[in-house]
Amino acid sequence: MAARILAVANQKGGVGKTTTSLSLGGALARKGKRVLVLDLDPHACATLHARLYPETVTVSLYELFVAKESEWPAVWEQLIHTQAISGMDIAPGSIRLNDLEDVMHNRTCKGTILARAVRKVRDRYDFIVLDCPPHMCLMLVNALLASDLLIIPIQTDFLALHGLRLLFDSLHTLNKVLPSPIRYRAVATMYDKRAKACMHVLDLLRKKMDGAIFETVIGVDTRFREASALGCTIFDIDPKSRGACSYADMAEEVLKLW
Ligand SMILES: Nc1ncnc2c1ncn2[C@@H]1O[C@H](COP(=O)(O)OP(=O)(O)OP(=O)(O)O)[C@@H](O)[C@H]1O
Ligand SMILES: [Mg+2]
Repeated sequence: MAARILAVANQKGGVGKTTTSLSLGGALARKGKRVLVLDLDPHACATLHARLYPETVTVSLYELFVAKESEWPAVWEQLIHTQAISGMDIAPGSIRLNDLEDVMHNRTCKGTILARAVRKVRDRYDFIVLDCPPHMCLMLVNALLASDLLIIPIQTDFLALHGLRLLFDSLHTLNKVLPSPIRYRAVATMYDKRAKACMHVLDLLRKKMDGAIFETVIGVDTRFREASALGCTIFDIDPKSRGACSYADMAEEVLKLW
């Protein structure tokens, strides 16, 4: 079966998108799934996290976007770094992704490039995870249009609810022109069970999302930062840690969706 495509996005920065992409992907890989992570963020944090540095990355997702359709298979071959981090393959991002808006200005069907290009590698994987940038841009539109499920990490704090509104405005705009609406599910991240404010925001979120939220809640765990410093995922540091167990639970929920 062709890979399910999970876009991890929220227009608010620092809410756990990259951590969710790599930890959920890592959890799925530990369950024997073939996982490819695409780093669609110009800041390329997932790429750096996998210890792929700009000076060594000669082909990034930028090259895929600007390539002709006939060149896509060859670009994918150079783009994918096999088993780059915790059993996952990764296609690196690059700061050049920032230039896409200008470079692609006159291209037709530019919002569906990723959806079309990904078909060339979809059969090789069970899941393709898209780590998205924190702002509305051509990459985010491409990610949403390619996705089977949009996963929205939401930091359990009051300000995080603001980013949500921006994302839903974008979703409504896109849904108007799509044959079927984009399927989505939120996940509460960085939850501190000792903080009353966190509990309150989680209650609010559950009401607001009306069922479209994972049961699993991702708690605060310092090992996530350790993992990014060490170029691995939390599973390589402590697979029994609370953070690792919660992404393993989330992966179980994801597997039950199809
Ligand atoms: N559950 C968590 N507990 C503790 N720290 C976390 C947790 N999730 C993420 N972090 C840390 O918070 C910081 C931001 O997380 P991350 O990079 O995943 O967010 P992001 O949404 O991808 O940010 P950006 O919008 O900049 O791409 C990182 O240092 C990460 O290690
Ligand atoms: Mg990120």
